[in-house]
Amino acid sequence: MSDFLICGGTPLEGSIQIHGAKNAALPILAASVLHQGVSVLENMPDLKDIETMLRILKELGTEVKTEENHKGRAVFVDTSGMTKPRVPSHLVKEVRSSIFLIGPILATLGQVDIEFPGGCEIGKRPIDLHLKGLRALGAEITEEDGLIHAAAKELIGTEILLDYPSVGATENIMMAAVKAKGTTVIRNAAREPEIVDLERYLHRMGAKISGAGTDTVTIQGTAFLRKHVKHTIMADRIVAGTMLAAGAITGGEVMVKGAEEETLLPVLKCLTQAGCQIKTENEGLFLSAKNRILRKIPHLVTLPYPGFPTDMQPQICTFLSLCQGRSTVEETIFENRFEYSKELNKMGANIKIRENTAVIEGVEALRGARVKAKDLRGGAALVLAGLAAEGMTTVEEIKHIERGYERLERMLKNLGANIERVGRITERSGNE
Ligand code: UD1
Repeated sequence: MSDFLICGGTPLEGSIQIHGAKNAALPILAASVLHQGVSVLENMPDLKDIETMLRILKELGTEVKTEENHKGRAVFVDTSGMTKPRVPSHLVKEVRSSIFLIGPILATLGQVDIEFPGGCEIGKRPIDLHLKGLRALGAEITEEDGLIHAAAKELIGTEILLDYPSVGATENIMMAAVKAKGTTVIRNAAREPEIVDLERYLHRMGAKISGAGTDTVTIQGTAFLRKHVKHTIMADRIVAGTMLAAGAITGGEVMVKGAEEETLLPVLKCLTQAGCQIKTENEGLFLSAKNRILRKIPHLVTLPYPGFPTDMQPQICTFLSLCQGRSTVEETIFENRFEYSKELNKMGANIKIRENTAVIEGVEALRGARVKAKDLRGGAALVLAGLAAEGMTTVEEIKHIERGYERLERMLKNLGANIERVGRITERSGNE
């Protein structure tokens, strides 16, 4: 068990580089089975979920090698020896994103067996839209005792209208359709930037896809994919947003290198409306909250991209708890994403949850306390609270936080924070 010990009250100052995006890297690793060749993936974040996905790929018969270079961490994945259609069940529960493998393995081997990933801390998280999309492509899918079996001699392109713009379902269907016969059109597709990164990687492989980033993605199936692909994983926009929020909540000045304005617009809007100053520079985004009076913002609602990201909701609510006045934040994507607010209230915040809305009364100060991370972003929010609080904060169960932030304490220390990681490393499990 490891904890973060934080002595709050220091305004963060300085610059940091954002690491590769977990949510882009996971589907890209799954997609690597499609070409049965070698993928060199640069800027791969060093996170538990990624490590688990690599272990799954190895157990499926692929070769995996990692290497540090000037661009960070590179992973070499050779999927030419991948012959097993059974995703190892002991690893599926560790990383929810193993569900991304269903589409690419089915498209490559004609069948796949995978355990149902189940719900997690932030919600029930069904996968009906993934399965509906694959069935529409011609897969026969059975579900028995928590095991999903999907098979198809051939996948056939078709038009698929998603009932909801699910990120994972869009990616899974895109990947399966790469090798289908004919053209697949996904309507009401999710538009997240990580889907665009997946499209970029698949393009390099020779896939014929257009429209990622819009609500209509078109995939023309092809049997010819390149055997060697090199791709650099995009920077993590949620980690970037978290670092901007850390600068804001401590009244500091931070330069977040690798942060892209375009992918963070609603977060930047919220921070500037509250009173922070944000500038776009060549290398990334600069935020200043120094000597500024920070005020409430009007009603905020989490929505699929380009709306306000649910993965930034806990961090922004924490920031708003130190802004003057009453803010309200409505969570429309996951049903159980306010758990952290109880911990935050122990630190002196005044947050009331009314159905799916947090009513946040700004307080003068937060005070250090012993709190527990219950999920990834909620845990990151508690760290932000600790950075701004008076006195010492202990954040327990940081295994959740470390699923999405590579060496968070090092990033924050680079900005002058007084934070230590204490205890020993234990197993972490991935569910976002
Ligand atoms: C991805 C991100 C996660 C982010 C989320 C929403 C990854 C690895 N994770 O998760 O960090 O919080 O997008 O931006 O990229 N749903 C269904 N049926 C389905 C699929 C989804 O009902 O078949 C529901 C979910 O329960 C949820 C909503 O749709 O309420 C959004 O889920 P989705 O967009 O699929 O999120 P994930 O891909 O799981």
